[in-house]
This record gives sequence, structure tokens and C-alpha cells, in this order.
Amino acid sequence: MPIKAVEDLTEADAAAELSRLASEITQANRAYHTADAPEISDADYDALKRRNAAIEARFPALKRSDSPSEQVGSALAEGFAKARHDVRMLSLENAFAAEDVADFDDRVRKYLGLSPEATLEFTAEPKIDGLSLSLRYVGGRLVQAATRGDGEVGENVTENARTIADIPQVVQGAPEVLEVRGEVYMTHADFAALNARQREKGEKPLANPRNAAAGSLRQLDAAITRARPLRFFAYAWGALSEPLAETQFGAIRRLQDLGFSTNPLTQICDGPEALLAVYRGIEAGRAGLGYDIDGVVYKVNDLALQRRLGFRSTTPRWAVAHKFPAELAWTRLEAIDIQVGRTGALSPVARLLPVTVGGVVVSNATLHNEDYIAGRDARGEPIREGRDIRVGDWVQVYRAGDVIPKIADVDLSRRPEEAVPYVFPEVCPDCGSEAIREEGDAVRRCTGGLICPAQAVERLKHFVSRAAFDIEGLGAKQIEMFFADPILPIREPADIFTLAARDAANPLQKLRNRDGFGEKSVTNLFAAIEERRQIPLNRLIFALGIRHVGEAAAGLLATHYGTWAAFEAAMTAATPGAGPEWEDLLAVDGVGAVLATSAITAFHQPAERASIDRLVAHLTIAPVLPRGPVESPVAGKTVVFTGTLERMTRAEAKARAEALGAKVAGSVSAKTDILVAGPGAGSKATKAAELGVEVIDEDAWIALIGEA
Ligand code: IVH
Repeated sequence: MPIKAVEDLTEADAAAELSRLASEITQANRAYHTADAPEISDADYDALKRRNAAIEARFPALKRSDSPSEQVGSALAEGFAKARHDVRMLSLENAFAAEDVADFDDRVRKYLGLSPEATLEFTAEPKIDGLSLSLRYVGGRLVQAATRGDGEVGENVTENARTIADIPQVVQGAPEVLEVRGEVYMTHADFAALNARQREKGEKPLANPRNAAAGSLRQLDAAITRARPLRFFAYAWGALSEPLAETQFGAIRRLQDLGFSTNPLTQICDGPEALLAVYRGIEAGRAGLGYDIDGVVYKVNDLALQRRLGFRSTTPRWAVAHKFPAELAWTRLEAIDIQVGRTGALSPVARLLPVTVGGVVVSNATLHNEDYIAGRDARGEPIREGRDIRVGDWVQVYRAGDVIPKIADVDLSRRPEEAVPYVFPEVCPDCGSEAIREEGDAVRRCTGGLICPAQAVERLKHFVSRAAFDIEGLGAKQIEMFFADPILPIREPADIFTLAARDAANPLQKLRNRDGFGEKSVTNLFAAIEERRQIPLNRLIFALGIRHVGEAAAGLLATHYGTWAAFEAAMTAATPGAGPEWEDLLAVDGVGAVLATSAITAFHQPAERASIDRLVAHLTIAPVLPRGPVESPVAGKTVVFTGTLERMTRAEAKARAEALGAKVAGSVSAKTDILVAGPGAGSKATKAAELGVEVIDEDAWIALIGEA
């Protein structure tokens, strides 16, 4: 049927067409944003939107409540809005063996100064294999649901969460502000039914229940989420206007009373023995549960103790996840490829005959390094009783949770006669530079530095990754494409920020005319890049991809130096091993000599430094303010503890002082503001008196920080 001109449409035609356009545009949005698989060209998409707008202009009364014209550049077109978590969403430390559980109990006791005989209760509950969600209720009403994201900022998925039956919209008798946290998951039965429907529709089946749950919750169209059978278990909380209870167990019971679904297998245990008994029980019943779990989580039951224990940079001290052993399968090793990482590390990757391991098809696995392939560890001791791994071998693959699959063992009885020992390359497969292994390093590294294309590409991928610059529309795939592009190349991070200007200066070969690009995607890409010219200091430091400087370390450095100018000046002035800048850097809790040397070196290599300088010229770098309450009476003060502390251990005293913004030093100097002296304080107290430093006892300290 020929398309009528807008002027010729009757009212009935217009209504019908607006309805069709709304669903077509929604479908196109969905394919583009969530499935990462656009179904129509950008030009066709734009034409649909224009037609919709023209019809609405002629028949304003017919404009639909779900009109696509209301969604220009909004949540729908851009993906989800961001939601900042008032209280960060953290992850859990993992334990694998029974000893790790005893260690956990030990560490908690030591931190709290409890004797081995003192009572210390824990809860044990299944670790649900889904995705975490934070639900915010104000005045008893659900006002926001957000995914974890990077822990600080997640995606606002409120409308989707409202479609989940286990999530109450209204709770009665709850604290004024209540943030409930838990896991969204899908049962095995619902997963199987969903995949059957997908197949019937000719759509791709989903890999496993966890992916299905994550994909279903993150649909831009809440109607799709509604059609997916999701469930929710509550197991934690974030911001609260008043406490839920005095114990973990009590808090979970309270959440249950408020109408949340909580896991019925949760139990109280009086120590590692009891925890392990629950672990074994839950593991034995795992197959019959009807949903996936990947371990058992142990938490200190007393919430006052949880508060004292507090957090490390990304995990609480009061909890641990005891993971189930990994899933195993045997398959053939077809080839060993070498990948070059951003720091030049040569990583062997096993290419496997595809095999299903715990419900997921695996065709690649890591082989760690050359020693691992040869059957020895870093100290030259045999592993797998010295059995080496050869191309053609039958190997045992395992995967635990989300991590990259690994090769555990090899079956010598099935080794083909022609299989030969693997020879690890001594030159970079990408740039041909020599690849060397430094004394004590398990890894062989390409010495090509910035001239090695593989390193450069990996650095760029790291630069745009989620915890770094997170540029929408510029992922690993696009980086590879731009890196090889003869007209608009991106060879180093600074090039990203000159892309739009270079494109504008190049009228004949405009990006928007190329295959795979259109007006809309190019405009969006340039806007996303523009938005990231402003970047928080911690993200920038992480993005630089300095060896040993991961996300947590970047956060520590950013908090310590505060501004780019201070960080850059310190790294420039510092020399590894000595001097005031070196001392200052090492004084940061969590920064050791290896990390410090690596950070300083990055600023002293001329080519690397020049590349950093070129990048920074394009950016506005937001300073990072020290964490913790600024109001604290000890914020910014330098404190020294000496003598015996009776109400808390040294580790706890230090962690709490730091959480309140104080700096804890090991010795008294003119810079010391407060000396907290317990019984038996010796020379430090004398020195403090000489220097006129304020000396207080432990009780006065506790009164000062307001935690009697
Ligand atoms: S407690 C402060 N309890 O596991 C940490 N987490 O690997 C609060 N998870 O991010 C989390 N089941 O998404 C907790 N019973 C459970 C859990 C659980 C699954 C997830 C959660 C967390 C991740 C850490």
C-alpha cells in the first residue's frame, strides 16, 4: 500500500499509523540499545521519527501517551538514566577452602580484639546467582530501583522493577527511608520456558538463568520485563533512616515481615564448624533448589560488630562468600594463541573444541603463562605432577562464576603421538619486539612499549572501559576499527578528543557516510565523547592503564592527592626508593613499593609522559574530596596511637580514624596533632610532650570521635 502524504490522512488513518509507529520505534530502540543489534538503518530510523512527528503536528489530539517523540534523547534513546547510590553497593571477598573460613573467623576476632573463646555468631545463607538491585522506599513507597553499576552509580530500572511480583510497591510500618538490597534471579523452570518461547519465535536462546535475569531487568521497554518471570530475594540494605534490628538475622526477619521475600535457608551459626556444616547442607541440596546459587555467604550477625568492622575499599570485613567448587568438563585443545595485553604481557589463550561447562558453552580458556603450560609454578615446583599441556591434548576446563574459564589438567592417556611440547614465543607476535621475562616475573612481556600496536589497542580499550572513561558507542570493537582507520585514526587516548574536529575538517570522507555509521550514531558518539571531557580524577588515573594501578589503587591515589595538579607534580618530583614524595606515596594505606614505582615510572618515560600530557590538555579533571564525614572533629588531623588500646585493636583504631578523615602515622613528629596513648606508652609520649603535641587517652579519643 503506498504511503499517504500526511495531509491526505484521515483521523482514523493517523491514529492507526501513530500506533504502528510507536511500536516500530520502540522495537528499533530495543534492538539498538539492548540487543546491540540494530535492525534498521539509522536513516530509516530517522524517517520513522520524522513521520511520527509530522502526523502528531497535524493531529495534536491524537498524540499518544507513549509517543516516541517524547523520548528524543531521553531514557529510551540513551539507555537508562543513572542513579547514584547513597551507600555504595559493594562486592564480597571470596573463600574457597575450609581454611579460608577459619581464617575469616580469625581475622574478624583479631580485628575486634576478641579471644578465640569469645562468642561470635554468623549467619549463613545461599549466594544467589543473579544480579543485585537496590530498592529505595520513601514513606513506604518504592521510589527508585537501581542496578549496582560500578557500585557508586547504577542504572535506574525503577519501571522494570515495578513489574516484579516479589518487589512490593508499598510497604507498611517501614522506616521513612529504607533501601532494600537483594538479588534478582530467574528459576530454572521459568528459564526453560522462556528459552522455549525464544526458540519458537526464532530468537536466540539465553545462555543461562543469570544472563536471562540480567537481560530481562535491563530492558528499555518495561512491558518486556513484565513478560519475563523475575524474582527477588532481599538480603541486605543501604541507606536507612532508622535501624532495622540489632542483628543480621533480625534485620532479614524484619524485611520478611515488611513483605519482602527472603531466603528460607538462612541460619545462625556459632563458628566455622557450624558454617561449614550449613555450607555442606546447602551444597548437597543445591540441585533441588530450582534456582542457581554459587556459594554460601557468611555474615557477622551482630550489627554493632558489623559497624565496627566496616569496609575495605570494595568489600566488607564482616562478610565472605564461600564459593562452590568450579564446574568441570573435558575437551580438546585445538590451538594456543598469544594475546598481548596493555602492559605488554604475553598471555596464552587455549582455543578449545567447544564444550558446555555448567550450562555455558566454552571455547576459550586462559593458560596463565609459559610455566603453567610447561607444568611448573613460578618457583619451578611441578604442578599437575609436572604434566605439560600440548596442542591436541584432552584438557579439563573449569569455570567458577563469572571468571574466565581455566585449564585444570591434562589427560596423558589421550595424548596424540604427534603432539610436541609447546614453545613459548620470545618475540612479540604483534610487533616483533623482543619479549622478555624479568627476574621474579611469571609473565613474559613485549618490550615494544608504545610502538607495539597490540599494547596500544589494549590500552585504548582499557581507556574507554566501563570503570575508566566509559564512552558510550566507543567500545572494544570500535576501538579496533578506529585504530586501523587510515583517515580518522585513534592511536592514543588524546586522539579520541580530537575525533570530532578531525571529522569536521575532512568534508569528503565524513564518518557519517560510512558503512555502519549514520547521522544519529555519529552525533551520539561525538556527544558521548564531549561529555567525558570532564572526568573525575580517580577515573582518569585508572584509565591511564599504569601497571599495578587498578580501580581501587586509582581511588586511593586520587583521594590522597585530591587534584590532578598535585598528583602529577608528586609523580614528576618523585624518585623510586627515596625522598619525601616517595615516602608520602608509600604512606598511603594500600600503596606498596611495586605500585609506587610503577606509577612514578609512567611519568618519567618520555613517550608515555608526552602521551599523558597530550590527553590531559583536552580534559577538565574533577578533584576527589576525601571520603568520610567532613564534619568529623578529627578530619585532616594526624594521629598517632601508642601503648595498649583496651577498647579496640590497633587495626580497628586506625581504620576508624581514617574513615573519619584523619591520617594515622607511625611515629610522632612536629606534624602530629594528637597522640592517643594507652597504658605502657613510652618514648612516643615523651617526644609528644617535648613537641607540645596534644596527648589523650583511649577514652578521651572515643569521646572525641563520638562513639562511646
Ligand atoms: S551480601 C556488602 N548476600 O554477591 C555486600 N550478596 O559477590 C552485600 N549476592 O554484590 C552483599 N547472594 O550481588 C550478599 N546472600 C547474599 C548474596 C549476595 C548473592 C551477590 C551480590 C553481591 C555479590 C558479591
